[in-house]
Amino acid sequence: GILATAFAEEIHRREFVVTWTMVASVPLFRGLDAAGIAEIMRYLRAQSIPRGAMIVRKGDPAHSMYFIAEGEVEVELAHENVTLGEGQFFGEIAVLHKTLRSADVRATAPTKLLILDAYDLQTLTKRNPEIGEAIREIARSRSELAPAERHGDMIEAELEEPAEDVSET
Ligand code: CMP
Repeated sequence: GILATAFAEEIHRREFVVTWTMVASVPLFRGLDAAGIAEIMRYLRAQSIPRGAMIVRKGDPAHSMYFIAEGEVEVELAHENVTLGEGQFFGEIAVLHKTLRSADVRATAPTKLLILDAYDLQTLTKRNPEIGEAIREIARSRSELAPAERHGDMIEAELEEPAEDVSET
């Protein structure tokens, strides 16, 4: 039984083949021609994540960003959770800003991810500036979405005083 479970887990963590359809169905890549999609396919690695597994841990150093080919993840912010699904991406903030991960991200369903390493993201955005701009735009809107969350990005020494209670204003 234990062996079977370990074996099943191993299977679930296995990489799968990145297909043309998976890449082409990511909205961010929709404007690309065949050569552009073929190029991106070469950069992407694939990984299956079992439900419940932590993918990105807040405070960890970042080496890659992730596109959701299938399944669902939850971004665990301090005051709310944000669900991201097929075609959406995450992990771009720390990679773009060269900071530590700003939140935990967990799979809430069996999930297939396409992984893009920071170095390859740089190459990709140099060759496709409009993709780089679209990713930066989303990163910006996510950071602005919940200004109250920003304290979570700081290390404790940076927080000299507790935040003032602004509930009356
Ligand atoms: P990163 O900081 O690398 O790791 C955690 C990720 O969670 C972050 O990149 C974003 O991709 C994602 N994330 C952070 N804040 C939000 C938000 N408000 N809405 C959606 N996703 C977010």
